[in-house]
Amino acid sequence: MRAAVVTAFGTAPAYADFPLPQPRTEHEVLVQVLAAGLHPRVRSQAGGSHYTSTDELPLVPGIDGVGRTPDGQLRYFVLPDTVMGAMADQTVIDLRRSIALPEGTDPVLVAAAMNPAMSSWVALRRRVDFEPGQSVLVLGATGNAGQLAVQVARHLGAGQIVAAGRDRDKLAALPALGADVTVELGVGGDALGRACTTVDVVLDYLWGSPAEEAMVSLVRHRADEREPLSWIEVGSVAGPTAQIPSAALRATRLQIVGSGQGSVSAREFVAELPELAAVITSGVFEVNARAVPLSEVARAWTDATTAHERLVLTPWA
Ligand SMILES: NC(=O)c1ccc[n+]([C@@H]2O[C@H](COP(=O)([O-])OP(=O)(O)OC[C@H]3O[C@@H](n4cnc5c(N)ncnc54)[C@H](OP(=O)(O)O)[C@@H]3O)[C@@H](O)[C@H]2O)c1
Repeated sequence: MRAAVVTAFGTAPAYADFPLPQPRTEHEVLVQVLAAGLHPRVRSQAGGSHYTSTDELPLVPGIDGVGRTPDGQLRYFVLPDTVMGAMADQTVIDLRRSIALPEGTDPVLVAAAMNPAMSSWVALRRRVDFEPGQSVLVLGATGNAGQLAVQVARHLGAGQIVAAGRDRDKLAALPALGADVTVELGVGGDALGRACTTVDVVLDYLWGSPAEEAMVSLVRHRADEREPLSWIEVGSVAGPTAQIPSAALRATRLQIVGSGQGSVSAREFVAELPELAAVITSGVFEVNARAVPLSEVARAWTDATTAHERLVLTPWA
């Protein structure tokens, strides 16, 4: 079969032959892959830099997707960390890590949205005691996951939603998705802290120095230091490490937790799939998806002009 094949970490995959995988347990089936998202997590998998990387090569990237089972069912699936990913004509899925989708579902929409939407959905439902009416800051709201985080927070009943990012044009589009306030990052001043005096939960996609600065600013402007402030580390596009000022942790009821593979178990992730998929297929969320034939994976991988869209590889296009 044909697949996207990575033979050296840090290089784009090539469209090449790859051995057809075989189901090994009663729970596994071979599916025809219809759509597989090119998420940042897939790039770090292909770069060998994700914390789950096994260093094995060659590998077919892709951590999730939509496929058709031999009995004709359409299913969304997530894959374990092996060298056989989703970006192939066919892949093996574990039925226990997949859900059936209604016939007629757009595979590209689901493959584009599940991973980025899951980041905030799971963080709010599994990592903190989030309650409707609570105020949320999305730190790094201009990417695919950040834009969906604004919509997920709104859908889950958030009160005020503050969306912060560095791209002014993309920020301007966020009120239409549910943001009450937008704050441009990196322009100096303390605008973020002033906009977030009563924020309850931070969904942080940035980490690095923007998170350090945001934390200091929020703590400085906290309306009531006795109110809990839950900081959920979800992404790290601005840096893998951050220096946390000790005073921030002493002066307020700041709690920092992470949300991702490990801190949320596979069982917990899977439990959230049906409801999230139902919301996505109902069309509630706006999703920036672009389908690309799998045969064009090498070019698409490095195409900077599509950075704001979620590329979805389609093997049978
Ligand atoms: N833990 C989880 O469960 C989970 C799940 C999904 C995703 N994630 C993580 O979430 C992060 C975002 O994913 P994504 O799908 O949204 O990626 P994406 O669509 O590529 O978006 C990344 C965004 O980050 C912005 N950005 C980069 N550096 C920045 C900086 N220094 N300051 C402000 N903004 C910056 C970019 O903004 P510009 O437009 O300004 O360049 C871009 O819009 C990634 O780290 C990903 O691994 C985590």
